Amino acid sequence: MTFTPAPWPRRLRSQEWYGGTSRDVIYHRGWMKNQGYPHDLFDGRPIIGILNTWSDLTPCNGHLRELAEKVKAGVWEAGGFPVEVPVFSASENTFRPSAMMFRNLAALAIEETIRGQPMDGAVLLVGCDKTTPSLIMAAASCDIPSIVVTGGPMLNGHFRGERVGSGTHLWRFSEAVKAGAMSQDDFLEAEASMSRSSGTCNTMGTASTMASMAEALGMALSGNAAIPAVDSRRRVMAQMSGRRIVQMVKDDLKPSDIMTREAFENAIRVNGAIGGSTNAVVHLLAMAGRVGVDVTLEDWDRCGRDVATIVNLMPSGAYLMEEFFYAGGLPVVIKRLAEAGQLHRDALTVSGQTIWDEVRDVVNWNEDVIRPVKNPLTPQGGIAVLKGNLAPRGAVLKPSAASPHLLVHRGRAVVFEDIDDYKAKINDEALDIDETCVMVLKNCGPKGYPGMAEVGNMGLPPKVLRRGITDMVRISDARMSGTAYGTVVLHTSPEAAAGGPLAVVRDGDMIEMDVPNRRLHLDIPEAELMARLAAWQPLPDQPTSGYAFLHQAHVMGADTGADMDFLVGCRGNAVGKDSH
Ligand code: FES
Repeated sequence: MTFTPAPWPRRLRSQEWYGGTSRDVIYHRGWMKNQGYPHDLFDGRPIIGILNTWSDLTPCNGHLRELAEKVKAGVWEAGGFPVEVPVFSASENTFRPSAMMFRNLAALAIEETIRGQPMDGAVLLVGCDKTTPSLIMAAASCDIPSIVVTGGPMLNGHFRGERVGSGTHLWRFSEAVKAGAMSQDDFLEAEASMSRSSGTCNTMGTASTMASMAEALGMALSGNAAIPAVDSRRRVMAQMSGRRIVQMVKDDLKPSDIMTREAFENAIRVNGAIGGSTNAVVHLLAMAGRVGVDVTLEDWDRCGRDVATIVNLMPSGAYLMEEFFYAGGLPVVIKRLAEAGQLHRDALTVSGQTIWDEVRDVVNWNEDVIRPVKNPLTPQGGIAVLKGNLAPRGAVLKPSAASPHLLVHRGRAVVFEDIDDYKAKINDEALDIDETCVMVLKNCGPKGYPGMAEVGNMGLPPKVLRRGITDMVRISDARMSGTAYGTVVLHTSPEAAAGGPLAVVRDGDMIEMDVPNRRLHLDIPEAELMARLAAWQPLPDQPTSGYAFLHQAHVMGADTGADMDFLVGCRGNAVGKDSH
């Protein structure tokens, strides 16, 4: 892709606030001077907003203030003027009912934070799962030069000689407690050993996946995704990104120049190669919608189908992000894909170079962590998109996290009407269920939960776990944590709360799943299905005010990224009227 830099010098948008001697300008500029900024800083140099998702209640981003200082240093060095701006921070491990319900609200708030204020470029300082897509969506809708800096993953967890992966081991340990194989005290010790430094989840969970997606899209400097949060090179990366954004503003290198269809196809393939989170599906679809690129669920299946998972990281594999960094990180994976003919080499990145230019000389330092394509973790990684009368608009499954013997399965449905129904029944020894059944969870989609919580990887019933069974087919309209695993069908669309066929599955119905042929079928007569759908009633007691009401009224299906219908698209960054 060829990119022609804009001429420099030229008047930037921030001069609409700070350039000249009008009363309005004095109002904007004079008040800024109460922070001790000399007058010459308002001379037309690029003003860079450092959009910081730091919060004490977003522990994964708890170290971002320190990184912001390094970004500022880089901006100053390059002749820019950095301004740090706190923005909505949707923590995965804190927000209720679900951080996902607030991804779009964060994106909306941040979009207006950018558009309404004097910024010529933005550094997106992110980390925890939803912070990365929400800021990229906002930047895409404004289309000002932007660069992503992630906080980086935590160091490896260790418990009694074993690597402990964020989330991944939590699921295992909690199942072990449930099955009586682990004590409460041991569980607490394991929990503490899991989070031993600043940073995001240390598995290839959603945070690491989205950091990888940002890099694969070309929105972060090469090598950004894997550097541990506490490694000094993370701070160097922040400083280099600060330097780079100033030149991006001068060149007018925008998200729409970088986030092209080719870039999204690259990211989808990279997701397959890293064994990335299913959450990347909804986030990339939403980002594409913001920048006006037509990416669909079918693209996920088509582009990812022949991509081997070569990154041996939990939850699919054995290692953690620290080892991934030492092996060479994402640039090695991108190079492997390029050499296999599975990458658009000419896609542009924030560096101004192509993605191939960035990776052509990198070296793999550990072939067990980043495998050769001929010796993959899973020959067919990627995301399988299933369709059928149970999911007319699609559902997703991550084959690399599933049990091979369950990928073609027919079983009796055991239905949970919502998450509370699941919690009430799952530990009941009288529940009529065994490992051949298909667990079905309804009303956990974008409208239903509300917010599409990460509850799709329902824990198995204790009586099944006690027999040493660790996986069953599970189907829902929910999402699943990127750190989780299992034969789990997610994002079933249309969702139950929107009257999709999932809503009318009943206990005892037979369900057929055939992943190789991408089929998900409710085995009841067509006329019976139609009759049940005609009799379906919306859920009672829906919100009538506040953000929950806005969310439910406007959130779209998971098959298109679960964005709000009124937020799709790029609205640009035109400077609005001045009211002073
Ligand atoms: Fe924040 Fe995993 S919960 S990165």
